[in-house]
Amino acid sequence: MEEDKVEEKWRLFFALWPDERAQERAALEAQSVGGRRVQPQNLHVTLLFLGGVDAERVTEIEAQMAAVETDSFDICLSRREVTRRGIAWLAVREIPAPLRELYRQVVAGCEALGIELEQRPFRPHLTLARRARPHRPVMIEPIEWRVRRFSLVRSQSDPSGVQYHTLREWPLREAVGDSLAAVRS
Ligand code: 2AM
Repeated sequence: MEEDKVEEKWRLFFALWPDERAQERAALEAQSVGGRRVQPQNLHVTLLFLGGVDAERVTEIEAQMAAVETDSFDICLSRREVTRRGIAWLAVREIPAPLRELYRQVVAGCEALGIELEQRPFRPHLTLARRARPHRPVMIEPIEWRVRRFSLVRSQSDPSGVQYHTLREWPLREAVGDSLAAVRS
């Protein structure tokens, strides 16, 4: 008799984690918008949402991402807004070229594996809260950090809320002048 094979789905996405300073600043912004705040340790920019993926495929995804090669870049979140669905987020004014390229390569890698992706325009943002008080977009003192890696993250919900577990991280190429900046910081 053929055994039923139950495939375990993991909810996955690729993320850009803020550095400590940016996380602190974003957490302060989250406090100012009301609604259901994202926990400080969960604040991130989604690079690409995969949704439910067979757990067995994680190794394949990891192998595919090893080929991604893009420069590190600065991300700058300068606008706080609330969407019509009541999601408060911080948005970028413009998408840095290396971020667009990173997104392109990660999408291409997933497509090469036959992973079905949502067809959504890429709008990088950092979600602060849900069911937030409506307000008009405001410019904030920009929250900026140097993105030096991207991460594959598993999202798990439990009674205490959502937990994000970084499964793997890949470094981005150091851009010229980076090593000096790294020494200074
Ligand atoms: P959000 O910040 O706009 O809510 C983990 O769920 C991450 O994946 C969240 O940051 C979420 O973005 C993003 N994401 C993108 N598409 C999603 C979807 N269809 N369902 C849930 N999360 C999604």
